[in-house]
Amino acid sequence: MNIGVLGAGQLGRMLALAGYPLANRFTFLDTTGHPSAGIGDVMLYTDQHHLLDDFLAKVDLVTYEFEHLPVALVQAIEEQKPVYPSSEAIRVCQNRAEEKALFDRLGIPTPVYRLVEHADELEAAARELGCPVVAKSVTEGYDGKGQAVIRDPAEAGDAWRSIGHPRLIVEAFVDFVREVSIIAVRGRDGQVVFYPMAENVHVDGILRYSLAPLPDLDDTVQQTADDYIRALLDALDYVGVLTLELFQTRDGGLMANEMAPRVHNSGHWSIDGAVTSQFENHLRAIQGLPLGDTAARMPTCMVNVIGREGDSADLLAIPDAHLHRYDKGERPGRKLAHVNLLAPTHAELLEKVRTCAALLPEAPASRFSFE
Ligand SMILES: Nc1ncnc2c1ncn2[C@@H]1O[C@H](COP(=O)(O)OP(=O)(O)OP(=O)(O)O)[C@@H](O)[C@H]1O
Ligand SMILES: [Mg+2]
Repeated sequence: MNIGVLGAGQLGRMLALAGYPLANRFTFLDTTGHPSAGIGDVMLYTDQHHLLDDFLAKVDLVTYEFEHLPVALVQAIEEQKPVYPSSEAIRVCQNRAEEKALFDRLGIPTPVYRLVEHADELEAAARELGCPVVAKSVTEGYDGKGQAVIRDPAEAGDAWRSIGHPRLIVEAFVDFVREVSIIAVRGRDGQVVFYPMAENVHVDGILRYSLAPLPDLDDTVQQTADDYIRALLDALDYVGVLTLELFQTRDGGLMANEMAPRVHNSGHWSIDGAVTSQFENHLRAIQGLPLGDTAARMPTCMVNVIGREGDSADLLAIPDAHLHRYDKGERPGRKLAHVNLLAPTHAELLEKVRTCAALLPEAPASRFSFE
């Protein structure tokens, strides 16, 4: 099976690494001008039609690892080859207004929000919702980019200019106990499997640590998250891996933050920590193969390597540490690698996380809700 992947970053690289044992071949179509997958065939997409034809001639089906793509491009591809998940999933997930409307329609709680198209409207929304609020561009955001926290309505003008986008979503700032995510996989036949939820630690809007399974997660909370994501998967007639980021509040309740129609950084722990990784399960789903067991083998923590790398030998000297490097150049804020750490108990795992963080020049201190 020749798999076409829209996008050519580290997520595509890890998809290919999971697909080679299944004898899959990969052709990437990069729309950013900066492919980093470093594996398979990489084609640079320009508006030239023969290029798209060349890509389509090489592949049996198409998936993606990046959702900030022109929907018209994905629709055009869909007319010629199967695309999983569909262009409809991209259309909804690349736009925070569409995404929130779907959460509302399915009864999935979210922070209260308003849509604004002018600095004055932003100020009015900040007053109405009560500060602090978070303003986010409706499209194109990632790693906390295109966002501003507004602590006083008077800051609205500056926030509007700094984001520089014609349409924003303004959300009440959630005083969460922790951030969590749920990853699920839906097969072509509608079968759904769920990974154990992960706790995600962000610093300055960038994911730094993901840990799963959680030592203190109530079964009913996992069940609620499973129900939310199943509703989304079914509503979108989705095939593949879907990720839902959530806030957990003091009363134990969950509120949806955003979703990603693809394999996700908060699921990288599954490469070494789960029976079947999110990457393998995505490939199984889109090819109509049986889905694999999502159970965790052991408590696992994923540590992101951002900006500057650590010494590989030092990191690999930690027992049951697994280093995944993306072969990218160092640059502030850039995701370069991750380390998966496994341990039989959460106490031992946290010890390893501290040892690992001390070896990474830019790693902030970790702090999990259950410590
Ligand atoms: N309403 C909110 N209340 C409190 N914190 C928030 C809120 N919205 C966002 N944040 C914080 O900012 C982080 C990034 O926000 P969000 O997930 O919306 O952006 P993003 O840029 O799409 O991130 P990514 O694509 O990397 O997941 C969240 O993980 C959370 O830590
Ligand atoms: Mg996010």
